[in-house]
Amino acid sequence: MKIAVLAGDGIGPEVTHEAVRVLEALGLPGLELSEGDVGAAAYRAHGHPLPEATVDLARASDAVLFGAVGDPACDHLERALRPEQAVLGLRTHLTLFANLRPAKAFAGLEELSALRPEIARKIDLLIVRELNGDVYFGDKGHRTLDDGRRQGWDMMAYAEDEVRRIAHLAFRAAQGRGKRLTSVDKANVLETSQLWRDVVIEVAADYPDIALDHMYVDNAAMQLVRAPGAFDVVLTGNLFGDILSDQASMCVGSIGLLASASLGERQTDYGTFGLYEPIHGSAPDIAGQGKANPMAAILSAAMMLRHSFGRETEAARIEAAVARALADGVRGGDLGGSAGTCAIGDAVLERL
Ligand code: IPM
Ligand code: MG
Repeated sequence: MKIAVLAGDGIGPEVTHEAVRVLEALGLPGLELSEGDVGAAAYRAHGHPLPEATVDLARASDAVLFGAVGDPACDHLERALRPEQAVLGLRTHLTLFANLRPAKAFAGLEELSALRPEIARKIDLLIVRELNGDVYFGDKGHRTLDDGRRQGWDMMAYAEDEVRRIAHLAFRAAQGRGKRLTSVDKANVLETSQLWRDVVIEVAADYPDIALDHMYVDNAAMQLVRAPGAFDVVLTGNLFGDILSDQASMCVGSIGLLASASLGERQTDYGTFGLYEPIHGSAPDIAGQGKANPMAAILSAAMMLRHSFGRETEAARIEAAVARALADGVRGGDLGGSAGTCAIGDAVLERL
């Protein structure tokens, strides 16, 4: 069971360290961890945020445990050398086209949600975000118009096969949950979205057991704070999914609690190859201070065991240990408490 550990920048190394401790504590036979450089750390060491050796390491592994990338000191660099390109590059090089971002209320944390507790309590949804296309990867550039004004531009596009493969994955995810799927687009304005909607409707014919509905993204943003409990699986494109998943995290209570999986079609001896990361990012303002909440990283390791290694029992054990620590009042700074990174790791380990 080969795992590439790419801790990256900011709080990435601190939180990933705790996730690794939890993994190691399970004592799974054959677990092999190898570290690689990624993000600003890799740029400093090798002149590139995603060195070839790191891509090779990821390819030779069964799963990638990812920390975070991003460093304000790199914001002046040309786009291709910025740390964010590392995660975008891994998503495309490894054809990780599906991003699974579950958001579920934790018992006892309703008060921390940006929403009223009785609304927050009902959240149990899964965002399935497309990761390899959309305006993220279309042609882009800047130019000077004939009248001398500068213009920036980005091309938004989806090909039907790109929509079809993520739609199938989302329908299957819905089969394993509440059997409801909401496809989010902006088909009232965008041709990209009209094609998206048409293809999702075609794919739906294979899944008569799933109740499908369509929602414009502006309305989805509103419903997500009005009645998030009404969603089961939300299927959407790269840009809308980026925005809605951050929003969903605040509805739950903290971005420090949400894990994610990025999956493709490659199968290994153990399961589906994937990259697992907390969704909080590098948080440079608190990096290196031992203050970051490692729970999202620990929960990412649980998702890895579930999807890439078929270890449902161990995944559920980790999730129960985190839920238990939260129920016992273990709170990081993001949750209004004062427990540090290592103390939270210890608390989860004790309950494991
Ligand atoms: C995310 C992040 C990335 C994205 C950035 C770091 C490129 O915001 O994973 O949601 O926009 O996809
Ligand atoms: Mg994001």
